[in-house]
Amino acid sequence: MSLQLGRSRFGDPANAGRTLTREEATALFNEWVLNPKLKLHMLQVAALMRAWALEKEGLDESGAWAWEMAGLLHDADWDQWPDLHCKKIIEELEHRNIDPEIIHAIASHGHLHFGVIPETKMDKMLYAFDELSGLIHAYSLMRPGGYEGMDLKGVKKRLKEKSFAANVSREDINDACERASISLDDLIGFIIPRQAQVE
Ligand SMILES: [Fe+2]
Repeated sequence: MSLQLGRSRFGDPANAGRTLTREEATALFNEWVLNPKLKLHMLQVAALMRAWALEKEGLDESGAWAWEMAGLLHDADWDQWPDLHCKKIIEELEHRNIDPEIIHAIASHGHLHFGVIPETKMDKMLYAFDELSGLIHAYSLMRPGGYEGMDLKGVKKRLKEKSFAANVSREDINDACERASISLDDLIGFIIPRQAQVE
């Protein structure tokens, strides 16, 4: 089964700056995503995207919401339509006249699967947070204190253990860090305290 999207342009440039409202995005999220684990993953990635946009990109509330929305909906079709993963949510957002930048970020969050190269900073950070966020969360679940006291060393040790969270692609993580021009240490250091706040 191929998830390749076969195109690299998404949405209409005339829709730049258009987002769903938080209420609309949350309604879509709740309607399409039923699996609580997947929901938590998407909420975690959304929180990381928002934090990065505010703290590192210096964006205002509306700019940060665009980043957050990309995180919140990036896996929206994975739960109920795995064969249409990415295609379905992209078409939905195109139909709703959403900013092409948000749609492109979602389309490029797994370029090895979807065949769309991450270009913008939003694209690259969504790609970078996606897999690493999952591994760090898996690590929190096996620690008695969860995120409490979790450090860089522990996460890097888990990354080296191929059998730990084996479905998390180490190749994607390294590739994403390179593309986003961020060190693995800095990325892990950014994720731990912020993800710890998302329950
Ligand atoms: Fe994801």
